[in-house]
Amino acid sequence: MNEDTHVFYRNPFAHYPVVAKGEGAYLIDEKGKKYLDACGGAVVSSLGHGVKEVAEAIKAQLDVVEFAHTSQFTNTAQEELAALLSELAPGGLNHAYFVSGGSEAVESAIKMARAYWVQMGRPEKWMVIGREQSYHGNTLGALAAGGNRWRRALYEPMLYQRPRVAPCFCYRCPFDKDPDHCALECAEDLERAILEVGPEKVSAFIAEPLVGATAGAVVPHEHYFRRIREICDRYDVLLIADEVMTGLGRTGRWFAMKHWGVVPDMMCLAKGLAAGFVPIGATLVHDRITDTFHSRRNVFQHGHTYMGHPLAAAAGVAVIKYLKEHKLVERSQKMGDELMARLRAALGDHPHVGDIRGRGLFIGVEFVADRATKAPFDPELAFHRVLGEIAFAKGLIIYPMGGTIDGRRGDHVLIAPPFVITKAQIGRLVEMLVKAVDGAIERLREQGKLPG
Ligand SMILES: Cc1ncc(COP(=O)(O)O)c(C=O)c1O
Repeated sequence: MNEDTHVFYRNPFAHYPVVAKGEGAYLIDEKGKKYLDACGGAVVSSLGHGVKEVAEAIKAQLDVVEFAHTSQFTNTAQEELAALLSELAPGGLNHAYFVSGGSEAVESAIKMARAYWVQMGRPEKWMVIGREQSYHGNTLGALAAGGNRWRRALYEPMLYQRPRVAPCFCYRCPFDKDPDHCALECAEDLERAILEVGPEKVSAFIAEPLVGATAGAVVPHEHYFRRIREICDRYDVLLIADEVMTGLGRTGRWFAMKHWGVVPDMMCLAKGLAAGFVPIGATLVHDRITDTFHSRRNVFQHGHTYMGHPLAAAAGVAVIKYLKEHKLVERSQKMGDELMARLRAALGDHPHVGDIRGRGLFIGVEFVADRATKAPFDPELAFHRVLGEIAFAKGLIIYPMGGTIDGRRGDHVLIAPPFVITKAQIGRLVEMLVKAVDGAIERLREQGKLPG
């Protein structure tokens, strides 16, 4: 433990090198060691590090005005960012509620759903249903909507209880079906849950289009979200797409819901919106919701001090312009295909790799003890942690996580490099990852924790 710090670290027992510089796909620590940032921290840095155009835009905004509270002023940066998002988002999502991160974007959506139904004369509708193994943020409301048991456990008594809905996870189908011959039982499970508590109580259903942190870039069945949209419509339940990880080009489309042509009622954004240059989040809201507030002359009773912050919005505008100008969303698709092909070639037959999945530059690799049975490693081995440590020591940053199956069992890594990554860097990434995987297995064997 580091006694010489006054920082309350995430993990006081870990050693964190001091970051000194960021350059494209690389981070460099104070000792000069270079790390290939293959996950943008937690799927944040989509443009890479040190992009001058974004830094200049933030500085230019600082020269104009650094802050003016949104209860007193609007600012041109947030007006411009909202207009850009309305242009890019699926039809009807024409207003942006700006906040400072993903959890705040989800909290805002949850409360907005409630406020909407109260205005519609349905004050009994308040409950937001989420899926097992999902993650929507760590503030209490967002945590309650999520379904990752490990993240919930400590705070469980403080979280509202809601019915559990199955994930759409074809590699580990909770209904033991094959995706080519299933009846979308996972989508039907939402209907069961809505009926269990009563549609009159349910305000919204929230889901990540591709499940990120908790399950490793899980791609849903092609027809899943269309079916979900139908069920939501049937029971007057709003659909909230949590695109905090997947939004702004990460999956090779501006927004992941565009893969299936499904328009949600609200969409939560953060991470890639300002690509890590400053904290920002946003809830995009469909006209049918904003019209309800406007026609009744109601305000949305919520808010945070830093909402619509001019620096954050200026960064967001610069990021979107950069993505457009350099055609980086298309590049995310193209380089994602390249990365997927190389990962499959290098690890597709590996005895401890069960599944490689994802879209665009949002890829998950799931590890198993046994490929044939899909049996996971013993959670006590913390395979993902050993792998992450070895990769980091080699200069490769990936996003490892355990509990892929149920919050306890299963190991995966998320690979989400910046869209500017080159083919040569992809080659290096895959090479280092393979070495790290083999290194992790070797280390566990040497420790007698895995059979030789
Ligand atoms: C899908 C999703 N929603 C919400 C959040 C929470 O965002 P933040 O950490 O910015 O509060 C995350 C963070 O990883 C996320 O992946």
